[in-house]
Amino acid sequence: MENVKRTIMITGGAGFIGSHVVRLFVNKYPGYHIINVDKLTYAGNLANLRDIENKPNYSFARIDICDFDAVLNLMKAEKVDGIIHLAAESHVDRSIKDPFTFARTNVLGTLSLLQAAKACWEPFDAEKPYRFYHISTDEVYGALGFDGTMFTEDRRYDPHSPYSASKASSDHFVRAFHDTYGLPTLVTNCSNNYGPYQFPEKLIPLFINNIRHRKPLPVYGKGENVRDWLYVEDHARAIDLIFHEGKIAETYNIGGFNEWKNIDLIKVLVRTVDRLLGRPEGADMDLITFVKDRAGHDLRYAIDSSKLKNELGWEPSLQFEEGIEKTVRWYLDNQDWLDNVTSGDYQNYYEQMYKNR
Ligand code: NAD
Ligand code: TYD
Repeated sequence: MENVKRTIMITGGAGFIGSHVVRLFVNKYPGYHIINVDKLTYAGNLANLRDIENKPNYSFARIDICDFDAVLNLMKAEKVDGIIHLAAESHVDRSIKDPFTFARTNVLGTLSLLQAAKACWEPFDAEKPYRFYHISTDEVYGALGFDGTMFTEDRRYDPHSPYSASKASSDHFVRAFHDTYGLPTLVTNCSNNYGPYQFPEKLIPLFINNIRHRKPLPVYGKGENVRDWLYVEDHARAIDLIFHEGKIAETYNIGGFNEWKNIDLIKVLVRTVDRLLGRPEGADMDLITFVKDRAGHDLRYAIDSSKLKNELGWEPSLQFEEGIEKTVRWYLDNQDWLDNVTSGDYQNYYEQMYKNR
């Protein structure tokens, strides 16, 4: 596998999860040409890929996935034989304020990639079969109560936020392109990811940064909402496995079997940051501030990923305690990265690194 020559387009590779997927593929498959296609919105940061940006099997193309001609030209010129699609607007709070941007990128952008892939797709040899792999979220399934049920792959879609509605729509388009045109597609729905390089508007990096700087921690509602958390490198491993061994037209759920009530998770964060900074453990609990709830706030997500375990043998590798410790350490050790992102300076990185290449 490692020696097969392939050209894989990874969209959204400058974002949080995408950067981990790009890094894994570039390092693991020296025979593959990995093309990172990213528009570099506020969430895209090429500094996330500093350690691999000069590798000979990696290249970057600044393209908006909604730009059909640009996407098609690149796929044709580079003879792309696999697409792993992560580019998206991904933050629920932003989707509540600006749903159009979410419909544009998540729905129309996905459609533009599908159309381009359909135009370029040819039956490839068995060693490198064509794949259009769409990365989706558990949020398309809606909300669960506290009755212990979990989302399985056959769960009816019931999105509640403009973000999850746009992702649900894109999932339907991907499946429709398989059913209508035979495009070899895959879809996975994953739970909340955490780990290095996550934009600090999401709960875990935002709160780590706030605890460090002794700023308030805005907990929505009563903090009783439950999320299922997965370490981002475990997600990237699952993506690698499914891209290579998943069955065409299948859906796989990916999750950590690791549910946490927000308020309990936040207390773990406070204790961990305090301890690692040499403060008395729990000293910063008074930063916790209950604020107005998020509109349409889903109560509980829980993913049943036993299909992926039974069929392809994937399991999360990290215990949550270990993952959180690693994550908090990473943000505390990489204050420069956080400062760059919060100041907006990272947006000059492309100009410095790529514009005149
Ligand atoms: P992110 O917001 O960190 O990164 C998104 C990336 O997409 C950025 O690099 C951004 O520049 C790029 N992008 C946005 N609009 C674009 C456009 N029009 N054209 C080209 N590039 C564009 O997101 P993330 O958290 O890494 O999520 C990646 C994918 O995984 C998304 O599809 C998301 O729905 C899905 N997902 C995320 C989570 C999670 O917990 N973060 C969980 C499950 C699924
Ligand atoms: P988030 O990281 O935005 O992910 P998602 O909404 O996709 O699950 O939020 C995780 C949980 O934390 C969610 O229940 C909302 C809550 N939350 C807060 O209580 N305060 C905050 O400031 C943020 C960003 C999130």
